[in-house]
Amino acid sequence: MKIKIDNIETERLLLRKYVMDDLDDYVEYRSNSKYYEFLPGEPKKNNDEYKKSLEKFVKGYNKRKEPEMTWAIVLKQENKVVGSISVEKFNEQHKLCEIGWGVSVNYHRKGIAYEAAVALINHLFTNYDLNRIQAFIWQGNKASEALAIKLGFTHEGTNRQARLKNGKFLDILNFGLLRNEWKNLKYNKHYIS
Ligand SMILES: CC(C)(COP(=O)(O)OP(=O)(O)OC[C@H]1O[C@@H](n2cnc3c(N)ncnc32)[C@H](O)[C@@H]1OP(=O)(O)O)[C@@H](O)C(=O)NCCC(=O)NCCS
Repeated sequence: MKIKIDNIETERLLLRKYVMDDLDDYVEYRSNSKYYEFLPGEPKKNNDEYKKSLEKFVKGYNKRKEPEMTWAIVLKQENKVVGSISVEKFNEQHKLCEIGWGVSVNYHRKGIAYEAAVALINHLFTNYDLNRIQAFIWQGNKASEALAIKLGFTHEGTNRQARLKNGKFLDILNFGLLRNEWKNLKYNKHYIS
């Protein structure tokens, strides 16, 4: 099924594809090591490395299978990219995909990740034949855990010591949201009270 939606708009945000002109904003939010505390990787060494990393997103859009996509989160008022939200590992057979989010440390606790995730989850369940969206959150990432819970996800289990970061094995918490559960969430625009 081809949907071909390039933008998702919310009250404050625009979710759209990355373009190379986003480089300065991309460097700004990804050069803070706090951003990577619970993510693989670390800040890049120089602008060239950021450019290559951004190019991977920009050039990769045509190769990915819908609904897989890395969306830039743009704060409309400032016309600034303040994070990413992505759909990965779409499994057509089992009707599931993975969601991942990240917001610039300078813009935390402003409801940006929640607003972006609500819009994306509504888009996914409305436009694709998906039964399940899953999120994998590293041990200790209390912000991400609380966000998943606020979005209606359930903590279903834990993969013990499944990631190695800075010499330490960390657990991965598995979160899932089913279509049937989403139907009853107030942020689902088709929700009927
Ligand atoms: C997780 C993350 C995306 C949250 O982004 P955010 O825009 O600050 O989150 P929001 O402001 O939309 O918060 C939504 C809800 O998440 C929870 N939350 C967010 N930050 C929190 C924190 N520091 N502590 C506890 N709960 C938090 C709250 O429930 C919040 O709702 P509330 O404000 O009504 O209490 C952000 O912390 C981040 O980008 N971290 C670095 C990258 C990362 O770890 N990504 C996740 C990989 S799994």
